[in-house]
Amino acid sequence: MGVAPFVFDVELPEGKLSSYDVHIVRRLSSMAGQYLDDEAYARMLEDDDRVLYEVFQMQRPEVPGELLTGISVLHPGKVGSEYFMTKGHFHAAMDAAEVYYCLQGQGMIVMETAEGKTAVEEMRPGRVLYVLPRWAHRSVNTGREEDLVTFFVCPANAGHDYGTIEQSGFRKIVIERNGEPAVVDNPRWGQGRL
Ligand code: NI
Repeated sequence: MGVAPFVFDVELPEGKLSSYDVHIVRRLSSMAGQYLDDEAYARMLEDDDRVLYEVFQMQRPEVPGELLTGISVLHPGKVGSEYFMTKGHFHAAMDAAEVYYCLQGQGMIVMETAEGKTAVEEMRPGRVLYVLPRWAHRSVNTGREEDLVTFFVCPANAGHDYGTIEQSGFRKIVIERNGEPAVVDNPRWGQGRL
């Protein structure tokens, strides 16, 4: 963690960073119970515990005023008809907002509040999304072949609450229907994981 201003470069289309402090790799096995089609999930996992997405972060002190920056690289694919997605989270510090800037690929960011408001925004290169405080957020790659590469920045002390989403899922999911992405109600929302 540096004590001087710093820069980093993003190499596209891979989203590779010239430098980073933290590298998080999420594999299919980390998403147990999160996809609608359990059988398709089990079959895919048996075949290969593939990498679904990677996050590269610049670490900063987790104190007010500092910002967490990084890149998320979400690979294309589906479990059954449901597109690959990130785990999704609320911020542990609920008043922490976040900004996403899409650099590469096609996708959606699915959001909701604890009170049940939902929002889904399409992401494409050049688009910026401002996630309000108190909104959980998840990225979904709806592209056929390209990675979805997004730059993010949020307060360094935002923290992550993954557990709420792991238990309930999001109210909306993104599936492929007639060859196109469709946002639909999650029939398993709130039922708890397997
Ligand atoms: Ni976040």
